[in-house]
Amino acid sequence: MRLVILGSGRGSNAEAILVAQRAGQLGRAEVVQLFSDQPAAGILALGLSFGVPATFLDPAPFKTKLDGEGEQRYIAAIQACQPDLVVLAGFMRVIKPAFLAAFAGKIINLHPSLLPSFPGLDGIGQAWRRGVKVAGCTVHYVTAEVDGGPIIDQAVVRIESTDTPESFAQKVHAAEHALLPAVIARLSHATVTNAANA
Ligand code: GAR
Repeated sequence: MRLVILGSGRGSNAEAILVAQRAGQLGRAEVVQLFSDQPAAGILALGLSFGVPATFLDPAPFKTKLDGEGEQRYIAAIQACQPDLVVLAGFMRVIKPAFLAAFAGKIINLHPSLLPSFPGLDGIGQAWRRGVKVAGCTVHYVTAEVDGGPIIDQAVVRIESTDTPESFAQKVHAAEHALLPAVIARLSHATVTNAANA
């Protein structure tokens, strides 16, 4: 299963996927390309360490969404990778219909809350400020509804009285780093099984 990962930031989740792959824990999945909409994103530095092509792709002309020329640039570049799965690992842009149609049913997103609670920006901060005692993260298929697509799996994190915003955020990130590679490994086995049954 060929994976393309899109990210805008640190890249700790892309790194978790690559570490799992190196350890033989990613099932039949293989990361073939990393893309970022931010030229200085940490995720791009992972390419060198793991021997995977990592490329800045200009998202212009829009600041927060992926539309117009930028969207076409992304679609063409990702299609050239012939992906079986497109993984949004901290990709902070709203995906529009043309992109969804180009990779229908093949785009998954990681979100740092137990959806449907706290969609949108800063899921961790939203949960902390609301004072919930149980939080976590979600991997879901991407649809036109932001953070609203079918949920594939979730991991739960408890917030203790001793937690701080920082320790809580660390717990959520640790949960994400375990959940996302595990989901990908499972999907890769499902893909192989489906292909075998076809
Ligand atoms: C992760 O916490 C991910 O859940 C979040 O961005 C972070 C990326 O971290 N994504 C969203 O909030 C999407 N709505 P990373 O760059 O270290 O992987």
